[in-house]
Amino acid sequence: MDIAILGYGTVGSGTVNVLTRNRELIAEDSGEVLRIKAILDLKDFPGDPYEERIVHQFEDIVNDPTIEVVAETMGGLHPAFEYVSKLLEAGKSVVTSNKDLVAAYGEQLLEIAAAHAVDFFYEASVGGGIPIMRMINECMIQERIYEIMAILNGTTNYILTEMEEEGASFEEALEDAQELGYAEQNPESDVEGMDPARKLAILSTHAFCVDVDWTQIERRGITHITPDDIAIAKAIDHHIKLVARSRMVGSRLFASVEPMLLPEDHKLAQIEDVYNSIMIKGNMLDDITVQGKGAGSLPTGSAVAADLIMAAINKKDHVTSTTYHEYAKVKPESFSSLGQTYMLRTDKSVSMPQEGIISGIQVDHIHAYFTKQLKSQELRDLIQQLEIRGVQVLSCLVMEQEDLSVNR
Ligand code: HSE
Repeated sequence: MDIAILGYGTVGSGTVNVLTRNRELIAEDSGEVLRIKAILDLKDFPGDPYEERIVHQFEDIVNDPTIEVVAETMGGLHPAFEYVSKLLEAGKSVVTSNKDLVAAYGEQLLEIAAAHAVDFFYEASVGGGIPIMRMINECMIQERIYEIMAILNGTTNYILTEMEEEGASFEEALEDAQELGYAEQNPESDVEGMDPARKLAILSTHAFCVDVDWTQIERRGITHITPDDIAIAKAIDHHIKLVARSRMVGSRLFASVEPMLLPEDHKLAQIEDVYNSIMIKGNMLDDITVQGKGAGSLPTGSAVAADLIMAAINKKDHVTSTTYHEYAKVKPESFSSLGQTYMLRTDKSVSMPQEGIISGIQVDHIHAYFTKQLKSQELRDLIQQLEIRGVQVLSCLVMEQEDLSVNR
């Protein structure tokens, strides 16, 4: 079957690599031979094995009736949205790694795909090489999923690991992540938590069957994490991770993306470098955790290739696995309204007792205090009381605590 690829960057070239290097195996396993007929890119690639297949006009792909399945790996919202819509309307199945696109227009594109009896798959948009979408949509179709806790951004996990293990500065670690092809074009999306918030919204929509707007998810990034925070985490056998969490409690959705202190024995605390991990809780199977490389050319290309193969098989069989559901919109609420425990790093020692604080620690010149479970207003009051006493809170990190939900 003839296929095409939009965008020959990190993910597009990874996809081509996977399809080329594993061509025979794919043909044997799936019965499909995928021929890359065209690759759309602005640039030329002199000397590249696919040099002759590079095209610069989208029309060369959308108007070619022999191309049946297309991978969109360009990234960004526009013209990705217009291209994908036109391809679906032209009766071609489309797969994408573009989480910005899926988080913003996923519902609309699924509706167009369903109306034209073609597939729209986006396995690679969440968790890089981890087959999480298929796991939720197919393997967990029988489950009432009520909680997700995950590391969904490879760049920030890489940065935090480098800061913790190598003592690297934030800037150095980010530069490495960019060179390795993990970071977004604008890494603000990684380090400020927009990228994992988009992925959390996509996962939550599928897991809980609700329509989640990623922009409404409470979000904090990792730019304010300092070596002093890492020193405190180490002293209490914890790791700082950028955690994406969502939980359904009745018809209420709680969701956040923020750095958290996780105890050494927590499954997500062990996840290092560019790896992502996703813990899902269902009412029957209890919990399940998967992990794998969350970014990078080949892992993400592998997930795109899997979608291409599935879409090609469906095309050949004249069936589609894509279904469209109009889910009710749910506004995500903050976990802080449920009550959480915190680590407060301060500029000087706090004389005890202090209402709200259970214990404290000093590591060299660094002072940190651990709170009892506080709701958001109680936390604000505590910080204000400390300020009145002349103590400044330099950082405030949520600490992982046992699941308090009762929604099983
Ligand atoms: N910038 C993203 C990350 C790429 O670091 O996870 C994969 O979505």
